Amino acid sequence: MTVTTDQDRYRILGELMIDSRLDAAGARRPLTPVPTHLMPAPDQGPITELPSPAPPRATLDEVLPGRVAVRDYGPEPITAAELSAIFAAAETMDAESWPGERDAGVRLEFFCATWRVTGVGTGLYRYLPGRDALRRVASLPTGQEAADLVIQTEFAQAAALLVITGNLAGSLDRHGSHGHRLLLSRAGAAGHAAWLAALRLRLAGTVFAGLLPHVLRERAGADGYHRAPLLAFAVAHPATATAA
Ligand SMILES: Cc1cc2nc3c(=O)[nH]c(=O)nc-3n(C[C@H](O)[C@H](O)[C@H](O)COP(=O)(O)O)c2cc1C
Repeated sequence: MTVTTDQDRYRILGELMIDSRLDAAGARRPLTPVPTHLMPAPDQGPITELPSPAPPRATLDEVLPGRVAVRDYGPEPITAAELSAIFAAAETMDAESWPGERDAGVRLEFFCATWRVTGVGTGLYRYLPGRDALRRVASLPTGQEAADLVIQTEFAQAAALLVITGNLAGSLDRHGSHGHRLLLSRAGAAGHAAWLAALRLRLAGTVFAGLLPHVLRERAGADGYHRAPLLAFAVAHPATATAA
C-alpha cells in the first residue's frame, strides 16, 4: 500500500485505533488457561546443577548511578554461582510480577549461551527454575565461529548470554494482540532484573534484542510462536581500560 496523503495516514491511524479497541474488548473476555497444543515443545538433554546464587557484592544504590550499556568484555570467566544469581533475579521478577499469567500457562523461558562460565561447559542451556539447574539443549561454536550466532559480533565475546523467550501463542490466545505487548513488558522486566543483579556482582553487560531468529529456531526449538525470542542480556567482566 502506498501512503501518499495526510488523508491516507489518518485513515490508517483510524483503522489501527479500531484494531486496538477490538483488542481491548477481546481482553475483557474471561481469561482462560492456555490449551496444551499452544505450549512450547518439550526439550531434553543432560542436566547441570547450579550452585546457590552468589550474594550481591554491592547495593543497588551503589551501582545504579554507574549503570551503562557495556559491549566490551574482559576474558575472565564468570562463576556458575554468579550465573545462578542472574537467572534467579530474572525468574523472581517474573514470578512475583505476573503469577496469574504463569499459572495460566504463559511462561517466560530463560536460555543461556555460555562460553566462559566456571563449571558450566560451552553450550546452550535452558534454565530449570524449580530446581536451580540447567538443561543442555545444544552445542555452540567458540572463537570466530561464535560470531555467526549474533548480529553484533561483540556479544559473542561475552561470558554468557541470557536469552528470554515467551509463549506468544498462549499470550495471544489469552489477550489478543495485547498479549504480545505483555510478553515484551515481562521480558523487559526480567532482563533488567538480570542486569541489575549482574551489576550488584560487579559484572557488566547490556540488554539487547538483536537476536538471529534462525539460531534459536535451530538450536532451542524457538519457532517464534510457541517459543518466541524476546530479549537478551549479555554479561561478562568489563574489559579493563589500558593506559594510553
Ligand atoms: C528493547 C531493547 C532492545 C535493545 N537492543 C539492542 C541491540 O540490539 N543492540 C545493542 O547494542 N543494544 C541494544 N539495546 C541496548 C540499548 O542500546 C542501550 O540501552 C542504549 O545504548 C542506551 O545505553 P545506556 O543503557 O547505557 O543508557 C537495547 C535496549 C532495549 C531496551
